[in-house]
Amino acid sequence: MAVEKILVIDDEPFIRKTFEEVLRGKRYGVSSASSIAEAERLMKREQFDVVFVDVRLPDGEGMSILERVSKGSTPPLAIMMSGFGTIESAVECMRAGAFDYLTKPFSISQIEVLVKKAESYRQMLQVNEYLSAELAGAKDLVGASEEINRLRDMLRKVAPTEATVLIQGENGTGKELVALSLYHSSTRSHLPYIRVNCAALSENLMESEFFGHEKGAFTGAMERREGRFELANGGTLLLDEISEISPRLQAKLLRVLQEKEFERVGGVKTIQVDVRVLATTNRDLRKAVEKGDFREDLYYRLNVFPVSVPPLRERTGDIRVLAEYFLARFAKQYNRSDLHLSPECHAALDAHRWPGNVRELQNAVERAVIMSEPGAPLISSALGLPGIQTLAVPVSLKVNEETESASSINGHGSGPLGDSRVSLAALEKEHILRVLSACADNRTRAADALQISIRTLRNKLHEYRLAKDE
Ligand SMILES: Nc1ncnc2c1ncn2[C@@H]1O[C@H](COP(=O)(O)OP(=O)(O)OP(=O)(O)O)[C@@H](O)[C@H]1O
Ligand SMILES: [Mg+2]
Repeated sequence: MAVEKILVIDDEPFIRKTFEEVLRGKRYGVSSASSIAEAERLMKREQFDVVFVDVRLPDGEGMSILERVSKGSTPPLAIMMSGFGTIESAVECMRAGAFDYLTKPFSISQIEVLVKKAESYRQMLQVNEYLSAELAGAKDLVGASEEINRLRDMLRKVAPTEATVLIQGENGTGKELVALSLYHSSTRSHLPYIRVNCAALSENLMESEFFGHEKGAFTGAMERREGRFELANGGTLLLDEISEISPRLQAKLLRVLQEKEFERVGGVKTIQVDVRVLATTNRDLRKAVEKGDFREDLYYRLNVFPVSVPPLRERTGDIRVLAEYFLARFAKQYNRSDLHLSPECHAALDAHRWPGNVRELQNAVERAVIMSEPGAPLISSALGLPGIQTLAVPVSLKVNEETESASSINGHGSGPLGDSRVSLAALEKEHILRVLSACADNRTRAADALQISIRTLRNKLHEYRLAKDE
């Protein structure tokens, strides 16, 4: 609960008693003090969420509490109480940081309303804190490849400027993360960061999402609403998937980027904003311009500083690092500190093409963590990558075919596997034994990974043993 403990500081016993009765009935913890000195003592001992304080107390001004109160990391909200003749001092207290004030005499419902208000406010602060922590959480680009290092270098240079950055890259490569990390290293990092997904809404809704609307601007516009550009004022706005906006909106967007002003939908007042714009796209905007789908002038406005995030298959050096990073993250999340990626898993990860890029890798690792059994290493089949379950058979066959074609070209038959005439049975045996060892000799899991029944596996192993015995 956002408000649990309330302190009432007033020298009139009747007031203290009223608060106690009203608030205890609502299950708040209530303490009361009749002087500043007594309040100080209580506040040393306990943490209060809301403090009702009379502006005049026997041993001093209620306002002195404000200073004391504003020190902690989550200071209580102070609500000043004043008699008719002292409203001015209550106003002064508001200036000094009080949350609100009550004029005596007041009704019980006024107390209740104020406590509710304090509660919503504190809850909002908590949510805000939580969201900021989340934003701050995963802002680092993980990766060790030359490509990602080059990207980090570029970001470091452009982040502290005011330049508009156009982030291009395939799905799931980390464009949003790049935008977030730009924001965090910018000079606007303590100001709002607002994101708008340009692909999410219809043209009309999108326009009001961007620029807001006035009450009655269209059916359903019951109230005035500020758009994302206004919300981001002073801070940073991420236009996610910018290629998706309609020609009409492109024109409007061009104006904001050029003139830094716009009108709300249905409004006449021109609103000025100061916003740093970041944009992402997974379509090639240059091509979209050539095809006539995207305005050229807008393209140049956005493409001040282009950044491209390479697909994962072009920076394979990041696969392992990212896999380990996601494993650590999900192992923690799912309480599975025992997990590690076997060489077999790494081989499977390295072999995959990652059409869904980092997001696909992240999902694969999460899936594997969920699928894995306690005490056993992660097995590649748990990653759920297409073609992994029967990894070596088709791969080996492919090697075999390649070897054969190589041999027909250069005339001799030795390839990566040593011999182009390796039989399917030998390949199968090699693969089965490898998977079994990756599964720490757990037959159930190995059978699962191989997508064969445990009985078939047992029979195969039996055969191999017989062969060895012979
Ligand atoms: N280098 C990285 N280090 C750590 N996490 C990353 C990295 N790149 C991407 N991710 C994670 O992968 C997921 C996908 O990244 P993000 O949403 O930024 O991609 P995107 O390019 O915006 O994708 P889409 O085109 O589908 O919108 C996110 O959870 C993100 O945190
Ligand atoms: Mg995205």
